[in-house]
Amino acid sequence: MQVTLKILRRDPANSAKPGWQTYSVEAEPMDRVLDLLHKVKWYQDSSLAFRRSCGHGVCGSDAMVINGINRLACKTLVKDLGTVIQVEPLRGFPVEKDLVVNLDGFFSAYRAVHPYLINEESPPERERLQSPEDRARFDSSTKCILCAACTTSCPVFWVNGSYIGPAAIVQAHRFIYDSRDHGLRERMAALNASTGVWRCRTAYNCTEACPRGIPVTQTIEEVKRALLYDRF
Ligand code: SF4
Ligand code: F3S
Ligand code: FES
Repeated sequence: MQVTLKILRRDPANSAKPGWQTYSVEAEPMDRVLDLLHKVKWYQDSSLAFRRSCGHGVCGSDAMVINGINRLACKTLVKDLGTVIQVEPLRGFPVEKDLVVNLDGFFSAYRAVHPYLINEESPPERERLQSPEDRARFDSSTKCILCAACTTSCPVFWVNGSYIGPAAIVQAHRFIYDSRDHGLRERMAALNASTGVWRCRTAYNCTEACPRGIPVTQTIEEVKRALLYDRF
């Protein structure tokens, strides 16, 4: 089949305004949008810029807006989109070039929640043991691949880019609800700030956008509860 691929392109180096460029690409129904982008870059226009690494939904580098919805290009099939496909960069971050956005702010929010185990107690002779029930408590948060699809779908983030965003909160949840972690107080500074979790208005866009099926909004609510009751 022949697919019309419309890509919102921008090259700030040439101070050009964003503009749509249209390509006609031969595709199979089971091709992924990432395959189409490769076909354009390899055979039609090598100047097209986009990120990708694993090609299998693991690295989180190819999140973009496809037919108006945040998705991973490597997990989105042509058969589910039709013959006209529109691709844009994630919203809310500065565009470096074409589909590549600057993620500095995203990763500084990630660092602000101290996304690592904090436990000052001397380690036991072997591992810090954890029951299967306690491990299950934060299982869904471990599935996050830091693709930024959630944060860039959030209307609160669009209005105020200093909001820490759902992705960073999911990362905080992964450790706050880990029975071996004692770092809630360190994470409080970022989570309890005026740009922290309380900005969330339960819009649910983040939950719908997450390609890993993480219940993001529920996760945010659990982090709010942890801050309120400090039970950990
Ligand atoms: Fe991506 Fe989901 Fe992680 Fe958000 S929570 S960064 S959408 S994997
Ligand atoms: Fe935004 Fe998700 Fe909350 S979309 S408002 S972070 S529920
Ligand atoms: Fe790694 Fe799509 S290329 S998630």
